Amino acid sequence: MAKDTLSITDNRTGKNYEIPIENDTIRAADLKQIKVKDDDFGMMSYDPAFGNTAACISRVTFIDGDNGILQYRGYPIEVLAEKSNFLEVSYLLLHGELPTKTEYDQWVHNIIHHTIVHENIKRFMDGFRYDAHPMGMLLGTVGALSTFYPEAKDIFNKEIRDIQVHRLIAKMPTMAAFAYRHSLGMPYVYPDNDLSYAGNFLNMLFKMTELKYKPNPAIERAIDILFILHADHEQNCSASAMRNVGSSLPDPYSATAAAIAALYGPLHGGANEGVLQMLKEIGSVKNIPEYIKKAKSGEFRLMGFGHRVYKSYDPRAKIIKEIAYDVFEVTGKNPLLDIALELEKIALEDEYFVKRKLYPNVDFYSGLIYQSMGIPLDMFTVLFAIGRTPGWLAQWIELLEDPERRIARPRQIYLGEMDRKYVPMSERGKKKKA
Ligand code: SDX
Repeated sequence: MAKDTLSITDNRTGKNYEIPIENDTIRAADLKQIKVKDDDFGMMSYDPAFGNTAACISRVTFIDGDNGILQYRGYPIEVLAEKSNFLEVSYLLLHGELPTKTEYDQWVHNIIHHTIVHENIKRFMDGFRYDAHPMGMLLGTVGALSTFYPEAKDIFNKEIRDIQVHRLIAKMPTMAAFAYRHSLGMPYVYPDNDLSYAGNFLNMLFKMTELKYKPNPAIERAIDILFILHADHEQNCSASAMRNVGSSLPDPYSATAAAIAALYGPLHGGANEGVLQMLKEIGSVKNIPEYIKKAKSGEFRLMGFGHRVYKSYDPRAKIIKEIAYDVFEVTGKNPLLDIALELEKIALEDEYFVKRKLYPNVDFYSGLIYQSMGIPLDMFTVLFAIGRTPGWLAQWIELLEDPERRIARPRQIYLGEMDRKYVPMSERGKKKKA
């Protein structure tokens, strides 16, 4: 009968080892017994960027990259995008089950009643430069929120923790919209709790002098679905930051600020902004072949293309592409769409991209929609952060409840110098005597 073990022979010593296999994985710690000399540290695994390393056991989100499958708590993303809404999906991610009507109504009440931020937050945000990038403002403001709720440090008190979860999901759109209004020099718009989560976000972004902002239903639904599609994505860079920082047990605002910082990067959440900059730079369909050539020479990255896990079409990109047409019905077609569609077509036929299994990812079309809604480029990643907040929090809570939780502290392979002699300043820089 086949055994669930890995037999390893260390040819340096001729010793044999049996390493247990569980969930098609071996524990790196089981390699430590492999030594040449008894006082060796023991063998480690080396996996820069953790491309083949499971950092945790999770039950939140499942991705099958080869088959383009994404499920939140076992529900296919396509079904949730069609039948659910963002607050219901947030509940699902955080509780593991879809809510009953009573649970849903209570959840919505909890979120709605935390949308307002402390008045000092406005003054804090006013301190940013007029042209501050909204992601930098969001990063700083979310971190600052930890000083407004010192009790949030009591992270193992479920009641206190739940209130911080409500606050973060509720206040993210408020802070995001305040950052946008700050960049325009416009007065901040307070939340309108008669509106849906997405509708209220649009209200805080775009309300002018009208007494009551009325969101366009098609735009409101598109934003809500985009938030659903961004809500979680297992151990991506920002969720890993949330877990890594979370493992030293700070309050959730500080851990979320770290996740926002990771998302800000152009290889992660910043890619949606990068796609629009790329499409604007390409400028016309006739210039595409030149840019494809640059991408193939490694001179330039096709933003919105490729993924560490998806080696097939990102299922979210498929849904976003469909939503785009619903939005363009209302806003008019984004002129950059034709370049995006032609770029996708050419890339998917080109050997370089086919061989590397590079397909459009979640960021490829989302920016076209946001731009058509009148949302500026530097707000695109901020919208990603709003959507991802329940996912970060679900991953963080799962970490706190993980019986194997310990502070994250990887090892290294040291190849640097050792035991060097300290040379007085007066003797430095002199040629060493032969
Ligand atoms: C997100 O992890 C997640 O789940 C993230 C995310 C989420 O929901 O949280 O899905 C959100 O971050 C989506 C990705 C957004 N980023 C971009 O669109 C930026 C452009 N894409 C790439 O930089 C890249 O594809 C990554 C960062 C997404 C993935 O990087 P990997 O897995 O480290 O892949 P790689 O850089 O090792 O590339 C493998 C090969 C390389 O070629 P070779 O060295 O083998 O010859 O593919 C090439 C790369 O040069 N390549 C690209 C490319 N992406 C990879 N070549 C041109 N254009 C690209 N976009």
